[in-house]
Amino acid sequence: MTAVGATARAAEAGASQAGHLVVAGASKRFGAAVVLDDLSISVAKGEFVSLLGPSGCGKTTLLRCVAGLLRPDAGRITVAGQEITRLPAHKRNVGVVFQNYALFPHLTVAENVGFGLRAQGVAKNEAAPRVAEALRLVRMTEHAEKPVTALSGGQQQRIAVARALVVRPSLLLLDEPFSALDRKLRETMQVELKHLLREVGITAIFVTHDQEEALVVSDRIAVMNAGRIEQLADPATLYSRPTSLYVLDFVGQSTRLAGTVTESAAGMVAVETALGLVRAPGSFARDSRVVVAVRPEAVTLEEAGTGNRISARVSEISFLGSRTQLHLDLPAEGEDRGVVELPRLPEGVAPGSRVTLAFDPADTMVFPA
Ligand SMILES: Nc1ncnc2c1ncn2[C@@H]1O[C@H](COP(=O)(O)OP(=O)(O)O)[C@@H](O)[C@H]1O
Ligand SMILES: [Mg+2]
Repeated sequence: MTAVGATARAAEAGASQAGHLVVAGASKRFGAAVVLDDLSISVAKGEFVSLLGPSGCGKTTLLRCVAGLLRPDAGRITVAGQEITRLPAHKRNVGVVFQNYALFPHLTVAENVGFGLRAQGVAKNEAAPRVAEALRLVRMTEHAEKPVTALSGGQQQRIAVARALVVRPSLLLLDEPFSALDRKLRETMQVELKHLLREVGITAIFVTHDQEEALVVSDRIAVMNAGRIEQLADPATLYSRPTSLYVLDFVGQSTRLAGTVTESAAGMVAVETALGLVRAPGSFARDSRVVVAVRPEAVTLEEAGTGNRISARVSEISFLGSRTQLHLDLPAEGEDRGVVELPRLPEGVAPGSRVTLAFDPADTMVFPA
């Protein structure tokens, strides 16, 4: 191994570790409002990362900074190791798909998809096969010559994706692209997009405020809170190991109960809650105020056995088809919540019934209150 080769490989490893897209310490204010707050994120090549968070948390602002439509007040943005923080949008080779897909109504489907290639001065004989390939990817080949206005919402959104991909961007940004579509179509488009992006192998950032959508499409999810990233993890980790109450509440449902630590030993705590004693893995001093939580599907209704057992009254029952949700009666004030999911409703359980909730301490999470 030559020294030059080793150095090049080390640099390459460093670059891939650093990520294809790296945002380092980005801040953005609008007047007095801090919209991005020293935010950092690194996205690997070929990775599909969602920015998930409530309306107003800064998702679009971050995307606009990466696209070059907005300049951050501080921080650095690099793509493939090249700093682009001050590069104008048209020099960034970044594809963008917005919610209102902004197609050109007077052009055909193929002309819409080929628009970016014409703008780049790509010759017709090279552009045609690239447009055809982009249309194939989004399964719209047979619609190529139609006016774009003849398409349904879902088809128009596919064309917006094809139009962004045809210029072979090094990064694809999608800002709530499916939020105008009805639920059924949205679910189809999510699976299609995931499949398509894997086929193309492109690095993509997908903005959504819909946690289910983020769980479906993403390799990793960045949960945003007030201009910062609260947790960045793969969907399963985010769901089973949220690092804060904010993430616990934003991704999925749970039974969560406030309480006080009454015992603490060997990495386990016992917490007195409004519904009884709950044990969980954790290290908190006695008398600490904490919140314990368990996901709905980790709970069964079993009277006997070891593990956590708490008793509650059922307030409402929701039949969801493939499963049934029991909502528990808890004081309306305070932040305690109770929800259990069962494959089917046990006989004799109705609103008002008292039930025993059984769950494994290993499935129980504990957070500082
Ligand atoms: N150009 C702007 N001028 C002033 N305030 C803005 C501007 N763009 C966004 N904001 C504000 O920044 C905050 C974050 O906006 P945005 O990034 O669009 O959030 P999200 O996409 O997560 O819903 C909001 O409070 C919004 O009103
Ligand atoms: Mg937005």
